[in-house]
Amino acid sequence: MSKERILVADDHDALRRGIIRALRETGHDVEEAANGNAAIEQLHNGQFDVVVCDLKMGGSDGLDVLRTAKALHPTTAVILMTAFGSVQTAVEAMQLGASDYVQKPFEIEEMELKIDKALEVRRLKHEIDYLRHTQPDIYDFDRIVGASGALQRVLDIVRKVAKTNTTVLIRGETGTGKELIAGALHHNSLRADQNFVRVNCAALQENLLESELFGHEKGAFTGADRQRIGRFEQADRGSLFLDEVGDMSPNTQAKILRVLQEQEFERLGGTRTISVDVRLITATNRNLAEMVATGEFREDLYYRLNVMAVDIPPLRERKEDINALTQTFIRRFCGELRKQVTGLDPAAEKLLHRHNWPGNIRELENAIERAVLLAEGDVITPDDLRLGEQSPAFNGSNVASVVKIPPTGIPLEEVERQAVVEALTMSNWVQKDAAELLSITPRVMNYKIKTLSIEIPRHRRAAAIST
Ligand SMILES: Nc1ncnc2c1ncn2[C@@H]1O[C@H](COP(=O)(O)OP(=O)(O)OP(=O)(O)O)[C@@H](O)[C@H]1O
Ligand SMILES: [Mg+2]
Repeated sequence: MSKERILVADDHDALRRGIIRALRETGHDVEEAANGNAAIEQLHNGQFDVVVCDLKMGGSDGLDVLRTAKALHPTTAVILMTAFGSVQTAVEAMQLGASDYVQKPFEIEEMELKIDKALEVRRLKHEIDYLRHTQPDIYDFDRIVGASGALQRVLDIVRKVAKTNTTVLIRGETGTGKELIAGALHHNSLRADQNFVRVNCAALQENLLESELFGHEKGAFTGADRQRIGRFEQADRGSLFLDEVGDMSPNTQAKILRVLQEQEFERLGGTRTISVDVRLITATNRNLAEMVATGEFREDLYYRLNVMAVDIPPLRERKEDINALTQTFIRRFCGELRKQVTGLDPAAEKLLHRHNWPGNIRELENAIERAVLLAEGDVITPDDLRLGEQSPAFNGSNVASVVKIPPTGIPLEEVERQAVVEALTMSNWVQKDAAELLSITPRVMNYKIKTLSIEIPRHRRAAAIST
């Protein structure tokens, strides 16, 4: 069994050492960090499979560590340890990409279980990522879920252009399915039995760009100890998918333009001119036309890429697709995570439809994965979804200022206390209703009542309990 690398970050020495000892005993390769800054430094120095991190630490806190971990190594699983009373921050952390959290104090077995779960999810994700690029059937049009008119119109266009050699530019917000559509284009084209090669332009390092795209001969530069075939050559007679094409530096844009114009190049350090026949598919979540106007994107390149544009609408404009997508994801994750979830309860379903989905299908997919993982029964509840306590009625501008701060100042906790008491009074002390007014879950409401030491009036106690 390969050893998993785990980083444990907590400024509580005894606790940290205890966790480390236990994890080492189970055979993991464990590193430690005594505070947030040290953890961030470790993340810059190497990659970890799992980061176990305290939420509250001096200097950089757990959220900083989480952000760094996700930015540097998106596949790293981060599990946060929270003190009793910071559940809400933990929920925020889940939205930032944390895999899970444990509330202190906890038994070490609970932590081990969460680590195992996180590793399992990670392993499956790797497998899926790998399969996605080797299995053409994943790009079958049947696999693209959604009956909304908006999506069907997109798919109609895609079906039509798939069989041609036309250069296609796929536009859409993050997580709308651009890569999926790019794959569908290739695997339903006449080039389907040739390579589909993806290049993430945002991740291209400028100094390695030419060798990445065009390849190099052995000895072309220090470190070039063997010949390398570049992406353009790999994609010969197939399709080349340039992803995140709006994130290329001006230099990179110029180089790409040149090959597109000439369809030929030399490997670095080579003399032979290589000509290729590639079908070009590109995607971006940026507004290229606007970038052309501001001079950030080359106009000549833009026209070369934008021969045929395919626009994928955001999920919030095709909410009819939510149910079908959700069902598909539930089925998939139940299989992967060996769970027996059959659907959502009505409140959870309502929540899915109220949510704005800034992260689109990927956000939905992640939310369902998490929910399936967390669900205790056979249906997903609003708590399992952890979509944040946002409410659509409140958009920050349709409400006049509700808080008056006295010139002498007021502790935030007091403001919160007053809001909770007011909501409770308005709802006749029915906690569930008061929670809804404040867009929090009943569980959080109950917790607020306790931590803010709010006295429930004697004659209302029964009502409060019956919720
Ligand atoms: N219509 C759909 N049916 C099923 N799954 C979908 C659909 N659209 C997107 N997905 C899934 O949602 C996730 C995000 O899709 P994809 O990676 O293609 O998005 P993207 O637009 O390339 O995002 P980004 O801009 O962040 O790179 C993927 O796991 C994909 O399989
Ligand atoms: Mg993408």
